[in-house]
Amino acid sequence: MPKSRSQYVCSECGTKTAQWVGKCPGCKEWNSLKKEAIASISKRSHRHQTIDSSVSPRPLADVQVDNVSRLITGEEELDRVLGGGIVPGSLILLGGEPGIGKSTLMLQVAFLASESGSRVLYVSGEESPEQVRMRAQRIGAVPRELMILPETRVPLILNALDNTEYSLLIVDSVQTLDHPDIDGVPGSVSQIRESVASITSHAKSRNLPVFLVGHITKEGSIAGPKVLEHMVDVVLQFEGDRNHAYRMLRAAKNRFGTTAELGIYEMMGDGLRCVDNPSDVLLSEAGEPTSGSAISVSLEGIRPILVEVQALVSTAVYGTPQRSGTAFDLRRLNMLLAVLEKRCGFKLASFDVFLNLAGGMKIVDPANDLAVVAAILSSSLDLPLDRDTCFAGEVGLSGEIRPVPRLDARMSEASRLGMKKILVSGHGKTPKAPQGLKVVAVKRVSEVHSLIF
Ligand code: TYD
Ligand code: MG
Repeated sequence: MPKSRSQYVCSECGTKTAQWVGKCPGCKEWNSLKKEAIASISKRSHRHQTIDSSVSPRPLADVQVDNVSRLITGEEELDRVLGGGIVPGSLILLGGEPGIGKSTLMLQVAFLASESGSRVLYVSGEESPEQVRMRAQRIGAVPRELMILPETRVPLILNALDNTEYSLLIVDSVQTLDHPDIDGVPGSVSQIRESVASITSHAKSRNLPVFLVGHITKEGSIAGPKVLEHMVDVVLQFEGDRNHAYRMLRAAKNRFGTTAELGIYEMMGDGLRCVDNPSDVLLSEAGEPTSGSAISVSLEGIRPILVEVQALVSTAVYGTPQRSGTAFDLRRLNMLLAVLEKRCGFKLASFDVFLNLAGGMKIVDPANDLAVVAAILSSSLDLPLDRDTCFAGEVGLSGEIRPVPRLDARMSEASRLGMKKILVSGHGKTPKAPQGLKVVAVKRVSEVHSLIF
């Protein structure tokens, strides 16, 4: 009997080596090579076709584009993030941490699509039909058009697609798929790659759109090979803090639309609900103004959002002061503290600094810097800021306040939510402010103090 051969495959980039090495020669990642058996026959042979003489290049300008009718799921935020519904035959990967609500979102999409008459197949490899049914009951009355298949073996899934015509396929999750031709446990690099390839070619030939649910590793990438992200048309990320109800859905890649759109959901007792006015939920209930809180006009993708930054500066109990930030980059916080110390002579070295963005949503926008600085100043001086003052500016290393993009959109959102004053960079051009909003230009971080108190 021939000895079975094995190879090592990088889980990040798919590079193969004959021997194990610590560092992948392809992507230079450490410890990413996993052992796999080499399949005895070429699995790719079936994909080669005989040479067809009619295949020849043609001018791109002659290619006709008929307006493809997208499948509108009815799940508004999702449709918007996708760029206006699902393109027929597209492959959409939905990634997110366990428990964030991926299965719930998919089930809601399945509900809405089947209510509007589409036949949906929900392949559940993780949960039993009873478990899915129990979840479905919380969401609403289960439509008859929604079919469930508790299966992980790829050929059986493909067989189900052959027997009945479906308008939408949902696979929950890719990590459970099991391809019999490939050695290795489900979830391994080659299993995922080949299973997804089989489903893709099957679905593309039928113009069937597919949602693939994928898990996210601790480091934040979708578990499995990076190549998976290249194989699909759209990569959606579902993120948020599990201790909070808000979830953000964004496209990390989209072949059919922009990646700048953002969808915001709230997890309720009966499933996920779209949040139309995110600023309302991200500003904590206005009561008595308290020190340490400042409102930032952030931008998420193309959407301006008002978010409350809360800082707490208190005397350090231990020798080394603590710096911690939920939903805020710690290095950026340290940088801002260093700027405050060096450029304003503000001594914070013996204080603990905690920073929090209300709602627990991770909004990464350098324009938050100015609000962070204001919140830190406010907390350490114990002076509250006006509830109708907001901030949008980036802080540079030399203490200059730098302009931020799309200031006009930020200003209109601020004005819409009743803000009276906005602090922006004094460098660069300032667009005309909407009525009732006073614009205060700041050039240096050392000026902020005199302008807000
Ligand atoms: P789930 O969709 O299973 O997450 P994932 O598939 O990403 O692992 O559900 C996540 C959590 O949401 C679960 O712990 C329970 C909660 N949940 C609600 O709060 N309300 C609901 O209506 C449902 C269905 C779930
Ligand atoms: Mg799930």
